[in-house]
This record gives sequence, structure tokens and C-alpha cells, in this order.
Amino acid sequence: MDFDSIIEQTIRFVKETLAEAEAGHDWFHIERVYKTALNINAQENGDLFTVALAALLHDIADSKFNNGDEEIGPQMAGKFLSGLNISAEVIVHVQQIIRNLSYKSSLSGVTFHSKELDVVQDADRLDAIGAIGIARAFTYGGYKNRTMYDPSIPSVANQSKEAYKNSSAPTINHFYEKLLLLKDLMKTSAGKTLAQERHDFMLRYLDQFYAEWEGK
Ligand code: ADP
Ligand code: NI
Repeated sequence: MDFDSIIEQTIRFVKETLAEAEAGHDWFHIERVYKTALNINAQENGDLFTVALAALLHDIADSKFNNGDEEIGPQMAGKFLSGLNISAEVIVHVQQIIRNLSYKSSLSGVTFHSKELDVVQDADRLDAIGAIGIARAFTYGGYKNRTMYDPSIPSVANQSKEAYKNSSAPTINHFYEKLLLLKDLMKTSAGKTLAQERHDFMLRYLDQFYAEWEGK
């Protein structure tokens, strides 16, 4: 089977599997990450096949909705890819990328490294910042019934992480807890450039938000 038909089949599989997914991790998130990963990889020259498959399959099973089992995603991807004519080497690499992609695993001492992981991870993180990232954060906040902003609750930048975790903090806090930190976690040079633009856009957004809040 050639590259194009494997990608086509993978897209079909991912669309079907994510048909019921919530808005933050629906097919359109995958499609954006896929496009961004290909865009970054054009400069990075990682293995295109591995990057494409890993981007498409990276959220095939979100552990948050599977009792925190981080192995379900790699397992589902491996099972699917084994049915196609793909080398074991590529399959294992795609599984490693999925396993090591999450923000959580990046905090817990990652042992696996590859250029292709860097490309897909940057692409996934880029979807959490900029205009789309802002939209996703407020979508998530609405789903969790959170307020947008409460000036009486200090942002996480000004209080302990533990205190923040125990409160149902307004969505604006998520910018300080995570979104504004992602720029410095970018690995590839194309990723860094894109992240800087999106980061600056979020800073402008926050300035405008606070100005409007004060009736200006
Ligand atoms: P990822 O898929 O990048 O690991 P998550 O599953 O944690 O990210 O979140 C999906 C989307 O929801 C992201 O855009 C993220 O910024 C947003 N999100 C996660 N937690 C919060 C929160 N506490 N408040 C607002 N948005 C959030
Ligand atoms: Ni993702």
C-alpha cells in the first residue's frame, strides 16, 4: 500500500473513532495538528511518514477519558497500524511519540527523544495557544462551568500552584498556568517562530480583555 492510501485510511479511522469526541479533541483539532506538523516538518526534515501518522493518531484515545490509562492510545494506534503494510520500526516509533506527547509525560522525566516527536509535540502545543488556543480554553472553561475572569481571584502567577488546583479558577487563570508557558517549551525552530507569534497575540488579547473589563 502506498503512502497516500495509508494516510487516507488513517484519516478515515481517526474521523470515525473521534466522531463523538468533545470539541477540544475532535477531528478538527487533529487536522490542525496534522497540518501544523507537516508545515514544521518541511523545515525540520524528519521522517514524513512517521510525523504524519503520529499527528493523525496522537489523540486516538485521550487518557483523561479512559481512567488515566496512558497506554490505551499507543495500543489502539499499534493495533490499527498493524493491519496496514507498515514496518514494525515505524509503528513502534509512532507509539513512542503518542506515549511521550502529553504535557503530563513531559513533566515526568521523558526518556524517549526523536526529531519526529519534537515536530508533533510542537504542533500539538501550538494548537493550545494563539487565537485557536484562546477559543479552546474558553470552550473548555464553559464546559466546566467556569467563569471567564474574576478580578478578586489572583492569577496563578501570584499564588501557589496548590491553592490554584483546589479552586475552580476562572479560565483567564489558565493562560498563566499553562498557555503563556508553552512558548518556551518549543523544540523546533519553526515551532518557536510560530509560538512567538501566537504568544504575542495572546498578550495583546489579555491587554484588550483587561481594558474592556474596566470599560475602556
Ligand atoms: P492537551 O490536549 O494539549 O494535552 P488538554 O486536554 O489539557 O490539552 O486541554 C485541551 C484544551 O483545553 C487545551 O486547549 C487546553 O488549553 C484547554 N484547557 C485545559 N485545561 C484547561 C483549564 N483549566 N481552563 C481552560 N482551558 C483548559
Ligand atoms: Ni492533541
